Amino acid sequence: MEDFDVIIIGGGPGGYVCAIRSAQLGLKTACVESRGTLGGTCLNVGCIPSKSLLNLSENYYKAKKDFNSQGIEISDIKLNINKMMSNKEKSVNILTKGVEFLFKKNKVTYLRGKGVPFSEKNVVVYENKKKQSYTTKNIVIATGSSPTSLPGIEIDEKNIVSSTGALSFSEVPKELIVIGGGYIGLEMGSVWSRLGSKVTVVEYLDFITPGMDREVSNEFKKILNKQGMEFRLNNKVTKVTNIQNKVVVDFTNNTTAEKTRLECDKVLVAVGRKPYTEGLNLSKLGVVKDSKGRIKVNEKLQTSINNIYAIGDVIQGPMLAHKAEEEGIAVAEIIAGQAGHVNYDVIPGVIYTSPEVATVGKTEEQLKSENTNYKVGKFPFLANSRAKVNNEVDGFVKILADASTDKVLGVHIIGPHCGDMIAEMVLAMEFGASAEDIARTCHAHPTHTEAIKEAALAVDKRPIHF
Ligand code: NAI
Repeated sequence: MEDFDVIIIGGGPGGYVCAIRSAQLGLKTACVESRGTLGGTCLNVGCIPSKSLLNLSENYYKAKKDFNSQGIEISDIKLNINKMMSNKEKSVNILTKGVEFLFKKNKVTYLRGKGVPFSEKNVVVYENKKKQSYTTKNIVIATGSSPTSLPGIEIDEKNIVSSTGALSFSEVPKELIVIGGGYIGLEMGSVWSRLGSKVTVVEYLDFITPGMDREVSNEFKKILNKQGMEFRLNNKVTKVTNIQNKVVVDFTNNTTAEKTRLECDKVLVAVGRKPYTEGLNLSKLGVVKDSKGRIKVNEKLQTSINNIYAIGDVIQGPMLAHKAEEEGIAVAEIIAGQAGHVNYDVIPGVIYTSPEVATVGKTEEQLKSENTNYKVGKFPFLANSRAKVNNEVDGFVKILADASTDKVLGVHIIGPHCGDMIAEMVLAMEFGASAEDIARTCHAHPTHTEAIKEAALAVDKRPIHF
């Protein structure tokens, strides 16, 4: 029986990064994955394919809507959805194969199959009808999450789909109803809206993107509205029915109790994801879960069993690939006897719509509820020269800083390329920067990043260009 220092169950961004870092640290490492390809939800049916479609659909939309008025005259722009989908699949294949290559390069053993811990020292891997047992000093559970649905709504991945189905429609639905105005609903809603669908988002709350700074969330909704997306806020979906080739969605207004019925071609259910822990033998092992089904861990990411760790979507915190990666690295270092650590206060969040939305740290609502005295600096992209020449003037940068120390507590941006721009703010916050530090840092001209410097200047009421 082969023996390892660490066996990681799950080859997504949490698991595969943990495996590579463990091997770098000299631990004899195996990673078990049942999907057939490495990379988890993110690479196979999440972040990566959705970004491919977001990029391609944005190009198509711009070519159709903006090019003529900008002096680029093309006629007869046609969508070839099959080609678009194969382009997406090609990118996914390259990247998942890339992880396999990294495993070989770092001498990580890739075990194909479903991994089940039978004791804290033993993992059994099932593949087809074969079963192989391995011993190990440590186990890391990195099994991720799966889409949730609503009571009585069955996802068939044909007409009523999760994000997985919405990544692979074979034709553009005439009408698409999205249930849930969160990350997935708005990204995938944007894709299909740009490609020609009439998209209606039904959201339970009376605002979109819960947890986001409300000013940004309100601006985001206005912009998406302008792009043609419709919103039915404050509505609870009660029923979704497949009728021949159509789907009927029933929902009720939470305040007025008014009932509405809409018909469409496809429904995307995007109401969140749940930790995936099925068939892992956890209760027998004594691994404790919380009331939301997440595996409980301490600050060292240890479960209730000392040498069994858990990372990523199966534990608390935002279900984000980069959060899982940080935890994967921290666990590998902790197992190797180092001081692995994740700074949960500075995990960025990005929605890859157009414009993008990017945020890090506390929202204004959080600061108010904590009774923290804060200052606000805002700068609109309308006054940023680069955004102006590119005709991308929607949105703003908002910096929240402590009223007495000037320390940056949160940064919230809606605007062009802010998914990349937020990295500067994450670094600044990681180093405990003040708004004045950012205001005094030279930013290249003409770039969108100047809007960050100006927002930092605005914290002290001295922006130059507004
Ligand atoms: P989410 O939690 O972002 O949004 C779910 C939305 O559904 C919420 O606005 C919620 O109020 C609404 N909702 C819940 N019940 C409802 C009901 N009965 N009727 C109408 N609306 C209802 O979840 P989502 O979009 O499914 O994404 C799942 C996870 O995947 C998230 O944790 C997200 O962080 C992650 N993700 C991240 C991406 C990124 O980083 N760009 C992209 C896609 C997903």
